[in-house]
Amino acid sequence: MHRASRLKAAACVIAAGIGMIGMSRITVAADSAKVDFNKDIKPIIQESCIKCHKPDPKNPRSPAAGFNLSDKAAAMKGGKVGHDIVPGHADESLMYKLLKGPVPSGNHKIDAMPKAGRGQAFKPLSDAKIELIGKWIDQGAEWPDKK
Ligand code: HEC
Repeated sequence: MHRASRLKAAACVIAAGIGMIGMSRITVAADSAKVDFNKDIKPIIQESCIKCHKPDPKNPRSPAAGFNLSDKAAAMKGGKVGHDIVPGHADESLMYKLLKGPVPSGNHKIDAMPKAGRGQAFKPLSDAKIELIGKWIDQGAEWPDKK
């Protein structure tokens, strides 16, 4: 094969690959390109995270790991380990990484989220919800005040 056409063929394969990666990210919320915090993300937090990640006057150890998801400023500041929400970078954000499995931190391993109850098996969020959260962070993690 000619060198130029071999290069072209390689470029095609790479382009197809990138296309496929792009598509798998988009299928999540194909009908709404932009993730909406109040509509898409807040319900997931309310259902699966908030019971542990909010201040509870009866529990001096709350919120879990110091990560408070009931308040925008506190959530953006992050918890004990930090880098929980890095706007624009889901792959650097603990809030996203922990949905896929435990994450090492120093000599400790942070459990996958949502944390399983004592003696219970870990039940991950659905792939669709995980990707919604990833996409929300990648899009800048906007958190408009509720109207
Ligand atoms: C049953 C209680 C519980 C639930 C539900 C829960 N978490 Fe956690 N979370 C914890 C505990 C406990 C830790 C500390 C775990 C560790 O260090 O191993 C933690 C740690 C974290 C951290 C690390 C914070 C830091 O900076 O150190 C993040 C991020 C997090 N949780 C996100 C979530 C998200 C997102 C959800 C919902 C999908 C969720 N959690 C649901 C109890 C919970």
